[in-house]
Amino acid sequence: MKKKIGVKILGTGSYFPKKVLTNLDLEKIVDTSDEWISTRTGIKERRVSEKNEPTSELAFKASTEALKFANILPGQIDMILVATVTPDMLFPSTACFLQTKLNISSVPAFDLSASCSGFIYGISIAKAFIESGLYKKILLVGVDELTKITDWTDRNTCVLFGDGAGAMVLSASYEDDDILSVFLGADGSYSNLLFLPAGGTSKPTTLDTINEKLHTIKMHGKEVFRVAVPKMVLAAEKALKFSEKRLEDIKLFIPHQANMRIIEAVAKKMGIPMDKVFVNIHKTGNVSSATTITALDEAIKTGRLKNGDIVELVAFGGGFTWGAAVIKI
Ligand code: COA
Repeated sequence: MKKKIGVKILGTGSYFPKKVLTNLDLEKIVDTSDEWISTRTGIKERRVSEKNEPTSELAFKASTEALKFANILPGQIDMILVATVTPDMLFPSTACFLQTKLNISSVPAFDLSASCSGFIYGISIAKAFIESGLYKKILLVGVDELTKITDWTDRNTCVLFGDGAGAMVLSASYEDDDILSVFLGADGSYSNLLFLPAGGTSKPTTLDTINEKLHTIKMHGKEVFRVAVPKMVLAAEKALKFSEKRLEDIKLFIPHQANMRIIEAVAKKMGIPMDKVFVNIHKTGNVSSATTITALDEAIKTGRLKNGDIVELVAFGGGFTWGAAVIKI
């Protein structure tokens, strides 16, 4: 009988732009306060990319680190997958720009759009491609530069977001199977609660769309909050069940870093003590597709996770989309 192909996680990497924007800096831009932002969101500061530092550049730096950590040369990668909602351009894909930066030719490269759940969607796609035998080594990136689509006069949104990139190298394996389970979901009927109205085919760019600031994130925060908590709980519980693991088997929960109060509510509903929940939102803000992978990378590199530990990632984002994955490090 043919042996089943498993997936091994070979390495991770991450990159945040150098420029730091603190809550105190924001106090000078909009009518807000460090106290309001800290207590309502848990965010203290976020990183902001330079004008000449597009999404593919952050992706390149995170990928280079992940490849080095995995001890893999760029030329050994046979597929590039980039989860992002802030691509360099509508097309070509950011994955194609990344491919060129990595000096790899010919291998398939494409973007996927699932907002803040993008990296979890990416894990599922990479797993399916590897298990099918079609590709052996996949570079998966979660990257966003939300500060480039932020309305800096809107205090409801501009305090929440930041820029960053994380990458993972996954490989076919006959010995290991590190992706124990993935669960995904979406509900497009919520599309009007968190979205970027213009620049697509439903509202092509015009002078009016620019004047009305329709190329920046629009969000109904309270409603997003209300749906995010139960959907993240649902996703985390389903993925846990499919993995045939128990809560006690999970060394660390890595939730999407959108709001500290969402993270705490999810942990409370699931009965997970906060010392088993990874949090870095205070220094990153919400980096969308990059949150779970950059947090995972930090947990690995700071020694909070070691080989063999089981981790659960869970995310929620515009669409709405949600997803969770139970993985072995
Ligand atoms: N600084 C100071 N005041 C602010 C503010 C800011 N940055 N942003 C909003 N406010 C004000 C509001 O105008 C409102 O004032 P009002 O009562 O005079 O109208 C007041 O604070 C309370 O606003 P409210 O919307 O009730 O706050 P909240 O407790 O729901 O917190 C969010 C707002 C955005 C932090 C919260 O709803 C949230 O995090 N939602 C989820 C967003 C998210 O995670 N999005 C990404 C998902 S992937």
